[in-house]
Amino acid sequence: MNITLRVWRQPDSDAPGKMHTYQVADVSEDMSFLEMLDVLNEQLTIDGEDPIAFDSDCREGICGMCGLVINGLAHGPGKNVTTCQLHMRSFADGDVIDVEPWRAEPFTVIKDLVVDRSSFDRIIQAGGYITAPTGTAPEANSIPVNKADADAAFDAATCIGCGACVAACPNGSASLFMAAKVAHLGLLPQGQPERHSRVLDMVDQHDAEGFGGCTQIGECTAACPKGIQIDLISRMDRDVLSAIAHRK
Ligand code: FES
Repeated sequence: MNITLRVWRQPDSDAPGKMHTYQVADVSEDMSFLEMLDVLNEQLTIDGEDPIAFDSDCREGICGMCGLVINGLAHGPGKNVTTCQLHMRSFADGDVIDVEPWRAEPFTVIKDLVVDRSSFDRIIQAGGYITAPTGTAPEANSIPVNKADADAAFDAATCIGCGACVAACPNGSASLFMAAKVAHLGLLPQGQPERHSRVLDMVDQHDAEGFGGCTQIGECTAACPKGIQIDLISRMDRDVLSAIAHRK
C-alpha cells in the first residue's frame, strides 16, 4: 500500500515544530507502524535528510518506550495495543496519517516524536516502592494473599508507564498511571507500611510536575494499551482521604 504521512518535526525543545509530509510507498500490511517509520527513515538517511526521532525499545508491548499520537489517538486506532504492536493492516491504501508526539505540559518534546517522560520516574521515586527488605524470592505461599487481591494487583502491575493516559486526557492528568502504581503495591501485604505516605507523596509529586487533575472523563482508560481500569483512580482517591484522616 502507499500512504502519506504528516509527521511532527521539531529540532529540539526550544525550536518551533511543524508537520512535514512524506510519501511512503510499497508498505506491507504486515509491518508494524514503527517498522514503517524505519523504512521511511532509511530513505531519509539515503537522501541525506535527518531521520525522524522516535522512541522504542522492546517492540513487544512490554517496555512502554514507544508512544505516538496517530490520527489524534494515543497509540493509534488499535484497542489495547501499543504503537509498536500496531500493524499497517489497520490502515488502507492511500490513507493520510497524522503522527504527533505525546502532548502534555510535563512531557517536553526533546526532538520530533520523542518526549521527556522523566516526570514519571520522579513520581515513582516519590513513593512507588516498598521499603521491606525483599532479599531473594521468598517461598510463594509464605505470605498469604487472597486470590482476588493477587489478581487485582497483577492487573494494576501491567501498567507499562507509556504515558498514553496523559496524552489522551484533556486535563493532562497522570492519575491512571499513578493509580495503577498505588494499587499494585497497596493491594499486597508488603505495600502496607508506606500505604498512606506513598499515595500522598506520589500525588504531591504528580501535581508538582504540572499534571492536571482527574475529572473522570475516561479517555485514559480507553487509550491505555494494557486496559488499566478507571476505577483504580477512585481507589486511589479513597487512599488519599484515608491518608489525610490518619495524618498525625
Ligand atoms: S517499544 Fe516497548 S512497548 Fe512499544
